[in-house]
Amino acid sequence: MARLNLQQKKDLRLKLDYNNMMADFVGKTEGFTDKDLKDNAHLIADAFQKVQQKRGTGMMGWTELPYNQEETVKDIISTAKEIRKNYDNFVVLGIGGSALGPTAVFQALCHLRHNELPRRVRKAPKLYVEDNVDPERMASLLGIIDLEKTVFNVITKSGATSETMSQYLVIIDILKKKFGDKAKGHVIATTSEKRGNLIKLAESEGFKTFYIPEGVGGRFSELCPVGLLPAAVLGIDIKVMLAGAAYMDKICSAKDVKKNPALMSAFLQYAAIKRGKNISVMMPYADSLKYIADWYCQLWGESLGKAVNNDGGYVYVGQTPVKALGVTDQHSQIQLYREGPFDKVVTFIAVEKFRADVTISKGCENFPDVNFLCGHTMGELINTERKATEYALTAANRLNYTIYMPEVNAFTIGELLFLFEMETAYIGEMLNIDAFNQPGVEGGKNATYALFGRKGYEKTKEEMDRAPKKKSQYFC
Ligand code: PA5
Repeated sequence: MARLNLQQKKDLRLKLDYNNMMADFVGKTEGFTDKDLKDNAHLIADAFQKVQQKRGTGMMGWTELPYNQEETVKDIISTAKEIRKNYDNFVVLGIGGSALGPTAVFQALCHLRHNELPRRVRKAPKLYVEDNVDPERMASLLGIIDLEKTVFNVITKSGATSETMSQYLVIIDILKKKFGDKAKGHVIATTSEKRGNLIKLAESEGFKTFYIPEGVGGRFSELCPVGLLPAAVLGIDIKVMLAGAAYMDKICSAKDVKKNPALMSAFLQYAAIKRGKNISVMMPYADSLKYIADWYCQLWGESLGKAVNNDGGYVYVGQTPVKALGVTDQHSQIQLYREGPFDKVVTFIAVEKFRADVTISKGCENFPDVNFLCGHTMGELINTERKATEYALTAANRLNYTIYMPEVNAFTIGELLFLFEMETAYIGEMLNIDAFNQPGVEGGKNATYALFGRKGYEKTKEEMDRAPKKKSQYFC
């Protein structure tokens, strides 16, 4: 699949269907019109120009990842080959952007029960992503893996994140006790080349190391070694994934908003936010895309939730991302989406062709209320239910749009990730905020350092000590 011709790429092109964002479908009060697009032509053009000007610079280094990693990709592929041959478990130690991407791509592109398959069918190590510091989670991992057959990939851009460093410290101690000098063979570090503690530790311990390029923030890092190494270890064709991202990049570099799905969806979400739609629901209709919704939630929430705009004014903007799964959440959340407050935009992701299908067996001829299902496939059913939900929301004047994926594969996942990243960059400019910083996340990190008495955080500790103490009368 590595070399797709133009026609193959076109056949795998993702499409944005925004009919149900328009007044023709959801009514004049909720929906948008071509006039809205015309009236905002300047804002859209301005956002387009700024993103195109900034790409490849500052914290927009991620736009070049599909093009500038030839040597890194070679190294990743040969490292992954050795790991696939010699190990049974690949454990990612990381959190946030260092964990959500690997998890999302694993679920999207591997067998849905990968870790449960026998080794000869799996043909790759099992993957575990330790996206937390829950002690029970770590203890349970240590209870099931054979360390001899395990590689740990510690991933942190800053090289300082408490969660990741504590996971690392637990593991390296166990490895050293068990393997002595050979412990280093079980650890790969993925981190910044210039900043943080992990690079220093990696150099002194002699770990194999991959670098997270400058200009690539955590939530924009799936297409660099952060995501590419775990993907390659699993046998995913990372060159094809990057080719999908490059293809979407070209599409999202079109000046005409009607030909640019990232620019169009960014504008529609922006216009919706301006009308008080403060919730963005991401609802793929495919289990394989379940964790893409988690990855999206970080991208959208952390990039757009900002107190201050680029001019220093307090704006407190953002749109709360919510993950949902079709059809599962039709039986929990859709009631709210159809009849609750008019404060949401729902994004459906539709998969046109599933990689496997299952026919619903016949044998219920005497029960017409069940028999109507017989002979259809589950693929037909899930897509029919998606259309039905789309209809139900639209009929209730609820803003929604659909991203169509012809199928889920390495190319279309590359497209999808890049589409969301570009959409985030465009809407960031429309909102006039820095979509690439995360002072709120860093505030939480600093407070943890202060509470643990880390040197340099004494002032934060003093501030925290001055905060009002909890009152017993407010417990019940
Ligand atoms: O998007 C971000 O920058 C953050 O969510 C980070 O990914 C997360 O905090 C982990 O940071 P680091 O990679 O520095 O350990």
